[in-house]
Amino acid sequence: MSIILGIETSCDETAAAVYDSNKKLLLSNAIFSQVKLHEIYGGVVPEIASRSHLEKMDIIIKCALDQAKITLDNVDVIAVTNRPGLVGSLLVGTCFAKSIAFVKNKKIIAIDHLEGHVFSSFLKKDFSFQNVPFPHIALSVSGGNTGIYLVEDFGKFTLIGQTLDDAAGEAFDKIAKIIGFGYPGGAIIEKEAAKVNFKDFFGYPRGNKLKKSLNFSFSGLKTAVLYSLVKMGVYDLNKGPVWEKITPELQKQVSSSLLVCISEIFEQKVKLAFQKYPQAKALTFVGGVACNQYITNNLNDLCNKMNKLFVSPVCKFCSDNAAMIAFVGSYKAEQNEFSDLYLDVLKK
Ligand code: KG4
Repeated sequence: MSIILGIETSCDETAAAVYDSNKKLLLSNAIFSQVKLHEIYGGVVPEIASRSHLEKMDIIIKCALDQAKITLDNVDVIAVTNRPGLVGSLLVGTCFAKSIAFVKNKKIIAIDHLEGHVFSSFLKKDFSFQNVPFPHIALSVSGGNTGIYLVEDFGKFTLIGQTLDDAAGEAFDKIAKIIGFGYPGGAIIEKEAAKVNFKDFFGYPRGNKLKKSLNFSFSGLKTAVLYSLVKMGVYDLNKGPVWEKITPELQKQVSSSLLVCISEIFEQKVKLAFQKYPQAKALTFVGGVACNQYITNNLNDLCNKMNKLFVSPVCKFCSDNAAMIAFVGSYKAEQNEFSDLYLDVLKK
């Protein structure tokens, strides 16, 4: 059981990848991002997402097999994301995976997308495998989820804190939209914040109510930013943004203050997590928001001070991808955790 084909369609990326578990090497990583299809709507439109997956899935699978210089006949196991995510999108990937498994008589494994992110830290830029010592803390932050985990072994991880409302990526995206940036807003916010040297202009709230907990709340932060814009007279609660007053200077200041605030919240939580779980040897920072260099650098510095190892994969393995799904599939195959062809979306 050494060649695993991973398939990922949980949101707006159609992805396929091949992992060789004997060589501990990723052989390919193919992806089609739908960002261009959704950006005019300012967010992911589920119907457009599933239709696009349907159009691209076979092309992307072929691409992953070609890149890996293999055919479907060489594949031993198909690992497919079946939860959580947009139901129509998940259905496309799982139906493809089940059809291939049925026709080609392959083993199949249903994978939790969040487990994929948690173990993406084992993938290196050059497609090789890197060992992250257990136990470690994983901070997984994307557009749909924000969670902190104690990771004790492959497949053995416990959620020790999570967002009580919005994900951090969602906060970046929503505030970016309010101040007039495109979708997704996280990367734009970072670029704009860099222009004012990541200065904190407005001191947005750091969520003091949750200071002693590993849980997060980003919806309150979003509201705080909104009301601060209302107070400045640049946002009208009935009519929306007062565009002529939202200057490039203000956009940079809001971006920078927001990023500094979110970074500090993460730093606080990581410190608390290491206090609560001193046996943890490392921190991994994963998920789309881990593409953020400012936060990554701050968490790296913090880990250096705390004598902990810091690992964050390259951006292509932080954001949604099938390489992490194939990798999780490889250790599940070793543990004989196969699914059957009745596997369904959104179910364990
Ligand atoms: O993991 P991901 O690709 O998709 C899911 O949400 O599952 O994460 C996408 C999220 C978006 O909210 C996007 O704004 C955010 O990651 N993101 C960033 C950066 N790059 C992407 N957030 C902050 N800074 C970045 N550089």
